[in-house]
Amino acid sequence: MKKEIRRIMVTGALGQIGTELTVALRNRYGAENVVATDCRPLPSETLRDSGPFQTADVTDADALDQVIRKYGIDTVFHLAAILSAVGEQKPQLCWRINMEGTLNILELGVRHEMARVIIPSSIAVWGKGAPLENTPQESVLKPATMYGVTKVCGELLADYYVRRFGLDARGLRYPGLISFETPPGGGTTDYAVAIFYAAVTEGKFTCFVREDTVLPMMYMPDAIRGTIELAEADFARLRHHADFNLAAMSFSAGELAACIRKHVPAFEVTYEPDYHQAIADSWPRSIDDSAARDEWGWKPDWDLESMTRDMLDHLRARLANKGASAARPS
Ligand code: NAD
Ligand code: SER
Repeated sequence: MKKEIRRIMVTGALGQIGTELTVALRNRYGAENVVATDCRPLPSETLRDSGPFQTADVTDADALDQVIRKYGIDTVFHLAAILSAVGEQKPQLCWRINMEGTLNILELGVRHEMARVIIPSSIAVWGKGAPLENTPQESVLKPATMYGVTKVCGELLADYYVRRFGLDARGLRYPGLISFETPPGGGTTDYAVAIFYAAVTEGKFTCFVREDTVLPMMYMPDAIRGTIELAEADFARLRHHADFNLAAMSFSAGELAACIRKHVPAFEVTYEPDYHQAIADSWPRSIDDSAARDEWGWKPDWDLESMTRDMLDHLRARLANKGASAARPS
């Protein structure tokens, strides 16, 4: 069943993951073979000069079809989505973009006999009834958010396309992702990124979840490597397809603040939980990723200590080069 990955389209390429995944894919497959797309018209500085960019809304199947034909696309990394916090503010929009976008990509994958379609899922698939600690691969999926509902549906839909149409669709349940290149786009785990920016700029931070809130997290270099490793894994070894649990580390907001304080001793954090808290409380504290380890050899490289050091080093370097405003998330 496995076909070669040659010409790639990334949707949502201007987002937190897309900006870094696009660059990693261009380094691996050749810049001209990786087409970045997003509904926003202007490519970021990083992407502008490094390869092709097209504006395309994932709810517009014809626009996607045109890009696929123009560039002879055989693989899609489908990252365009509305995340959990924005999704709770705008649930109908979240359903429309996440579900219409995913269905369009799967349909186009079949129509163009694609080699691979990669569609990320999330820890947001879980909710009531799932164990909060070491949450197993196979567990009750009853999300409390519209975002989670779309992620469960997306997984089921992608698995259906594997069985029904023989499409090679794959996906992983990312934990909260922490990175310095592009700010996150409206998720519940965004506090775990914003806290680093605050540490190097303001020296103080107000956190929108409680100090004892524990969530699974991952540093972006692990997420990028894991995504590409899953895309390139031998199909014959995969028993799962669109729903791989993926883990690296788990920590509370207070533990993260304490780790940052080792490098920024005067850093002050206060906790003012808001509507994000209920979303965070509905998600697991840690997850069991043994299926990903067994089926395609997943293993994370980064832990809380090494990630914290690296995040602070990068943000401080950026601050020194460009001034404080450039280090803050926009
Ligand atoms: P993001 O919000 O940073 O980026 C999403 C991008 O999609 C944005 O650039 C946005 O402009 C674009 N977009 C939105 N609507 C669009 C549309 N209609 N057409 C085309 N583009 C559109 O998101 P991200 O963090 O990069 O997430 C990418 C994927 O990974 C999503 O499926 C998300 O659910 C999943 N994920 C992310 C995290 C995380 O912590 N970042 C965790 C779990 C899962
Ligand atoms: N980081 C994402 C969010 O908080 C999880 O999918 O929405």
